[in-house]
Amino acid sequence: MTSTREYSVAIVGATGAVGSELLKILEERRFPIGELRLFASERSAGELIELARGEVRVDRLDPEGFRGVDFAFFCAGGAISAEYAPIAVEAGAVVIDKSSHFRQDPDVPLVVPEVNAADLEARERGIIASPNCTTIPIVVALKPIADAVGLARIVAASYQAVSGGGKRGIETLSRETTNLLNLRDAGDGGSSVFPHRIAFNCIPQVDAFMADGATKEEAKVVAETRKVLHLDELPVAVTCVRVPTFFGHAVALTVETERKLGARDAERLLRESPGIVLYDTSSERPYPTPADVGDTDAVHVGRVRDDPSHPTGLQLWVAADNVRKGAALNAVQIAEIVAREL
Ligand SMILES: NC(=O)c1ccc[n+]([C@@H]2O[C@H](COP(=O)([O-])OP(=O)(O)OC[C@H]3O[C@@H](n4cnc5c(N)ncnc54)[C@H](OP(=O)(O)O)[C@@H]3O)[C@@H](O)[C@H]2O)c1
Repeated sequence: MTSTREYSVAIVGATGAVGSELLKILEERRFPIGELRLFASERSAGELIELARGEVRVDRLDPEGFRGVDFAFFCAGGAISAEYAPIAVEAGAVVIDKSSHFRQDPDVPLVVPEVNAADLEARERGIIASPNCTTIPIVVALKPIADAVGLARIVAASYQAVSGGGKRGIETLSRETTNLLNLRDAGDGGSSVFPHRIAFNCIPQVDAFMADGATKEEAKVVAETRKVLHLDELPVAVTCVRVPTFFGHAVALTVETERKLGARDAERLLRESPGIVLYDTSSERPYPTPADVGDTDAVHVGRVRDDPSHPTGLQLWVAADNVRKGAALNAVQIAEIVAREL
């Protein structure tokens, strides 16, 4: 990004999976940072993070720390955002929140730049929310189809990497895999992060269950997809599944459209759409895997085909780096747009 001024930036949760990626992306994209303040919990206070600009110290989160800050990125969970985001706004910062806390607030835009950047104009609370890491690839892939022929229904099943559960999710799969390979522990015992063993397993539960039998993660994906696409009544059915991959969420999508599009026309449309890498069904490599998409910026789409069970049905396979486009990159893209106005 080229800019004539520099911005004071704070990152809350700088030592986490998303916060670390955010730091990397801000440097890669040359976001014009003047002062940089890094916050985490007491556990990490005093830690030094090595960056291109030199070592930067991590401080314990402190309400006074937002004075003079232009952009405050929040990646430390909903409770921290709920308490400290309004303090950061009061101190004059634009808050970009990675947690789910403000996503359904009508005065907080929920933004994926390739899809609804115009929503950034109305941010009464000074807070901008970034969606869940499964919602983002879904809306990037479906926006061009929605614009062309309208959406009538979405059915989705996700395959979500352990990094979606933060750095402790990554540590849990590493530890369990090593233990199982050593044949020391073959049980189904859960951990503090996942309700069952995740190594060599799949868990159809991401987050807690609600009264209707859906999980909170599934409810987020439904509500966020509707909000970002401005389709409040869109029927959406989602099953979220945790799988033993480290990075990259994938989603099998079945969509019914208002008017028939057809798989080849859908491929043509997706190939030209922003933020998408299309894997042609007629090519030798008609789909991405989560391993392919790690450390990439795009939403990868493959296996686009007609749904034989419905006259206007389409099926797609979508994958994206959950920590990058699903979280940190999306937040930085939002900041780049807002910075152009400041
Ligand atoms: N991981 C993903 O794929 C993903 C995608 C989209 C959205 N998100 C959201 O992004 C946020 C961060 O997720 P993550 O995966 O990066 O989690 P994480 O790896 O567990 O990192 C959490 C961060 O929050 C900090 N923190 C915890 N308690 C704190 C406190 N009391 N005061 C200040 N800082 C505190 C931690 O600091 P310490 O190191 O000191 O513990 C760490 O820096 C969450 O809201 C999550 O839902 C995550």
